[in-house]
Amino acid sequence: MAIRNIVKEGDEVLRKKCREVTEVTDRIRQTMDDMVDTMRDSYGVGLAAPQVGIMRRYFVAEPEPGKVFYMINPVITKQEGNQVCEEGCLSVPGLIGEVNRPQRITITALDRDGKEVTYDLEGFEANVMCHEYDHLDGILFIDKAENIHDPADEEE
Ligand code: NI
Repeated sequence: MAIRNIVKEGDEVLRKKCREVTEVTDRIRQTMDDMVDTMRDSYGVGLAAPQVGIMRRYFVAEPEPGKVFYMINPVITKQEGNQVCEEGCLSVPGLIGEVNRPQRITITALDRDGKEVTYDLEGFEANVMCHEYDHLDGILFIDKAENIHDPADEEE
């Protein structure tokens, strides 16, 4: 287990389009395992490779405790409906905002073993996957969000 450093907004690594993974190696598996540890350590529900400084198309997500998704070269093949999601990001600490996302998606990817998997997801799970997917194209939630604010300000 290893906790990796999370890249913060302002670093150009977060703004680049990531390249596809050509082979699911032990090294990628190790990195993904570290990403799960890092995500949990910061109480996050998802973490994408560029957030740990790696410009490749993969991410991990844990929309509910114990339900971990490993998504390598993900492609969102279908999206339907609409939902407004309150989002934050481990790379943009201290801010949340409201983002319009599809209510349902179909996403195909390679899993941790390099096997092709397809998921039909909705609600919060669809939300998390869309947020992480955006990271692979250099997009942050603050690019799309409305009402961006620091929730700590509301407590006063
Ligand atoms: Ni994020």
